[in-house]
Amino acid sequence: MINLALIAPPGGGKGTQAEKITRTLNIPHISTGDIFRSIVKGEYAGSFPVSEILNYMNRGLLVPDDIVVKITLERLGQDDCENGFLLDGFPRTLNQAEMFDKLSSNKRLNYVILIDVEEESLIKRLTGRRSCPKCGRIYNIYFSPPLKEGLCDEDGEGLVIRNDDKEETVRKRLEVYKTDTKPLVDYYKKQNILAKVDGNKFVDEVFKQIMEVLKA
Ligand code: AP5
Repeated sequence: MINLALIAPPGGGKGTQAEKITRTLNIPHISTGDIFRSIVKGEYAGSFPVSEILNYMNRGLLVPDDIVVKITLERLGQDDCENGFLLDGFPRTLNQAEMFDKLSSNKRLNYVILIDVEEESLIKRLTGRRSCPKCGRIYNIYFSPPLKEGLCDEDGEGLVIRNDDKEETVRKRLEVYKTDTKPLVDYYKKQNILAKVDGNKFVDEVFKQIMEVLKA
């Protein structure tokens, strides 16, 4: 069984790789960022402090640990996570990782993959990102543009830019990654479940490296 978490800087390719991994392994893709975006749009069941969450996200800051851990554990309690899962964007702080280890009991992680990407390319990846609001497919106007400008190849829907992909917010998110998320690398190294892949390569090459880790 694969209980996997992806760690990468903002724009590091977590969402892009998660889409391919979960399709191949047939496990659910749980993105805390996507969950928060649906909460903000009023599309996620439950009652949440919406304006508080939006306020953190729009400033490129992390949503408080207790909110994230609760939502993630609830999501993992659903039936589709019985045979493995992929966490995209969680845990993101040492405290989240420790709380998760304490409270997740039968859902402990057995693989954590760090997608390592050089910082210079991240700004271009994020400011060039476009996504389909209908099917979730991710594009990039510089590296992987859609066939018709501004439209999704799958369903013709108009592509959108995320609110937190403005350059100023992107810089803040990168700073937060360095201070809050990077320490997780040592935490999972000590547990012997961390593998690192080179995320500077083309999407398919990164995917190949990840699948090699998971098959080992
Ligand atoms: P979240 O949605 O998780 O954002 P993020 O971590 O900043 O990551 P991104 O989604 O921006 O990037 P990605 O790594 O998925 O890259 P992608 O594949 O799209 O979180 C958003 C916010 O929610 C947070 O700031 C926080 O406020 C809150 N939040 C979420 N989780 C939280 C938590 N646990 N705790 C507290 N708060 C939380 O790729 C990016 C672009 O690059 C795309 O255009 C893609 O086409 C392109 N690309 C991908 N791979 C390659 C490649 N190999 N070569 C060239 N281009 C590539």
